[in-house]
Amino acid sequence: MPRGLFITLEGLDGSGKTTQIKRLAQWLEKHGHAVVQVRQPGGTATGDRIRAILLDSRSAPLAPITEMALMFADRAQAIAEVIQPALDAGRIVLCDRFTDSTEAYQGGGREIGSAAVLDLHRLICGNLQPDLTLLLLPGLEVSLARARRRNERVEAKSGADEGRFEAEQDAFYRRVWQKYRAIAAREPERVVLIEGDLTIDEVYEQIVEAVSERLVTSEQSA
Ligand code: TYD
Repeated sequence: MPRGLFITLEGLDGSGKTTQIKRLAQWLEKHGHAVVQVRQPGGTATGDRIRAILLDSRSAPLAPITEMALMFADRAQAIAEVIQPALDAGRIVLCDRFTDSTEAYQGGGREIGSAAVLDLHRLICGNLQPDLTLLLLPGLEVSLARARRRNERVEAKSGADEGRFEAEQDAFYRRVWQKYRAIAAREPERVVLIEGDLTIDEVYEQIVEAVSERLVTSEQSA
């Protein structure tokens, strides 16, 4: 059986990834594909417990290196439990964030650098690479404004405390944004950069176009 297709969505907080993933999953299912969705951090029972530590503001201050190690622990579990079995079964896996997030947030935002992240990815994740990464990244000012708006919403919302990343300031998100751009420039084959101040429908159109192209290529090589 041919290996399935591994698609990841990336972007800053407030980039609208979650809405787009839902729409993309519906579109793929309508076209007869079996889809498995997973988010990071989280997505497995163990991963959800790791997520609670990572996102809870009571965990501050978490050393950047601890934060990175937890992200990889979560990811390794998701690969073992969900992602690899689904790919082996020929399914399409839609993953809300993957190692590019660790490179952007811990490598860039927390200034650990890319090399450590990529080394750990090789060691812990068997260097599993997405077939396609959709990077939702409007210009810096728009991205920062959205991240800020989202922070205000999250702060206003009661319930589970997921505020640790939301408390980060502009300088942090600027570094995350720059690292995402650098990843897209380094791997233009894998990463489709969706930029500009687009409406939800315009972003969705670009996503469908990129995924359609990749489906044709993977069907031809199967
Ligand atoms: P989440 O609520 O899932 O945010 P979003 O809906 O924007 O994806 O929270 C995930 C947070 O964790 C987000 O701020 C990005 C951060 N993160 C990292 O810092 N490193 C990582 O490797 C991953 C997967 C997420």
